[in-house]
Amino acid sequence: MSNINFSVENNIGLLTINRPDKLNALNSEVLSELKTLLAKIRSEKLTGLLMTGAGEKAFIAGADISSMSDMKAAEGLAFGKLGQTVTTDIENPPFPTIACVQGFSLGGGFEMALACDFIFASSKAVFGLPEVKLGLIPGFGGTQRLARRTNAAFAKELVFSGRNVTAAEALARGVVNQVFETQDELMTGAKAYFAAVAKNSPLAISQAKRSIDQGSQTTLEQGLGIEVNCFSGLFGSYDMKEGTAAFLAKRKAEFKGE
Ligand code: COA
Repeated sequence: MSNINFSVENNIGLLTINRPDKLNALNSEVLSELKTLLAKIRSEKLTGLLMTGAGEKAFIAGADISSMSDMKAAEGLAFGKLGQTVTTDIENPPFPTIACVQGFSLGGGFEMALACDFIFASSKAVFGLPEVKLGLIPGFGGTQRLARRTNAAFAKELVFSGRNVTAAEALARGVVNQVFETQDELMTGAKAYFAAVAKNSPLAISQAKRSIDQGSQTTLEQGLGIEVNCFSGLFGSYDMKEGTAAFLAKRKAEFKGE
């Protein structure tokens, strides 16, 4: 893959969009490479996935404007659907995902970050959905996921103005989970979070993620039904037997994710 680097260290996947001369802008080639990679790593037993952009300046500065400028409606539809497929693929793995945002996270870049479970940012991170300035709207899930992560009024305020928000404002709005002073501290902090998560049952984490993600799209009653199915499905699993036995024996649990 020419635009994406992927490596695994201590069971943590690190996916880097590597197109720094264009601030990691997303064209069809980058999106197709992402789709292929995400399909491949979905079944890997990872503690978690970190997603970031190459360089110091940008996480991802958006969809590639030069590749969109000549598109007609049919091509725009295909491009939007590809972008939405990728953001859904980012959202769906059974393990947790963190967008590590160290600079510009604009348009499609912000939409990729919003598809991750968490956004960790450096103090220099900048977020925005500036598509209306180009005569467009967010098309990779931004109007939906920002409204769900925060609220419809904030999503409208941001999308209609196209204004950028700082890491501090994004933290206050609940868009960002944690802010770190530097890019190095950001990556170290994200890895430390996964090191803590790695002590817990991967199977239980995958069911907790499913319960929260699926349940938050439904009524409370339906969500409670999803939760109790995820909860009860864990009984009898290796991890549940091991976790409860380890507690009772006052020893450290050794989970397998099974
Ligand atoms: N699509 C295509 N190319 C992009 C891009 C994008 N979304 N964002 C940046 N680039 C390219 C620039 O065209 C430039 O390429 P060049 O060196 O061949 O001219 C290179 O990346 C560096 O960007 P530049 O604009 O020179 O950097 P800057 O520091 O002056 O400004 C930004 C940084 C992020 C403010 C500016 O690049 C920008 O506004 N980008 C577009 C953001 C956007 O509208 N995203 C939503 C798209 S739907």
